[in-house]
Amino acid sequence: MKREIITTADGSKSIRLPEMDETYHSSHGAVQEAKHVFIEKGLNALPHVKTIRIFEMGFGTGLNALLTLEAAQQQNKHIHYIGIEAFPVALEMALQMEYEHYVSKENQPFFDRLHAAEWNSDQCITPFFTLKKLEEKIQYFVPEKSTIDLIYFDAFGPSVQSDMWNLNILEKMTALLAPGGVFVTYSAKGQMKRDLKSLGLRVESLPGPPGKREMTRAWKGQ
Ligand SMILES: C[S@@+](CC[C@H](N)C(=O)[O-])C[C@H]1O[C@@H](n2cnc3c(N)ncnc32)[C@H](O)[C@@H]1O
Repeated sequence: MKREIITTADGSKSIRLPEMDETYHSSHGAVQEAKHVFIEKGLNALPHVKTIRIFEMGFGTGLNALLTLEAAQQQNKHIHYIGIEAFPVALEMALQMEYEHYVSKENQPFFDRLHAAEWNSDQCITPFFTLKKLEEKIQYFVPEKSTIDLIYFDAFGPSVQSDMWNLNILEKMTALLAPGGVFVTYSAKGQMKRDLKSLGLRVESLPGPPGKREMTRAWKGQ
């Protein structure tokens, strides 16, 4: 599938799929969205947990992983990060995103390392951050129950990839979550929220990043 690089409103880059008329991030700002949804409302929702197991649906450009790596170092947390991706972005294109400019100088070299890391096995990227990139479709992924503290659900939007948001996938995500775990996504889709509730999660609608009124966070009970 053809991919082109675009610049979003905050100056950070993203990828657009012209055939689907879909982008990997918000056109209002890729980095702004990632920081708001996944770091502020996701990672920072677990301030007292020192070792956090994260599952990302859609590793893509590695932006969320890089921002999480930086936050882990700043907050003295240990992160075990699993990123599932069915259609990996080529290294050359990923590096053209230049996301290293959005982290401190000492963490800049790790953007390349995230992308160069071998797939399908645990890779120690920094003393704070271990990465396992899974090259697999989420539809075939078999969740290990209660092994994840935080899910970054970053699939393409429901209007272009509705099957990523169905009850079956959300059920898998819920099974993955450990008690007290958090599911976070940029989407505010009503059916998704009703499905998450029906799966027993406590669902919150939160203010979205600039350009988006709402986003969703859901908690699994202790
Ligand atoms: C919205 S983009 C993700 C953006 C990514 N988190 C980032 O920051 O670049 C959605 C991602 O889901 C991946 N994807 C699409 N269908 C998938 C599937 N069935 N299973 C796993 N990943 C899939 C896409 O290739 C894409 O990288």
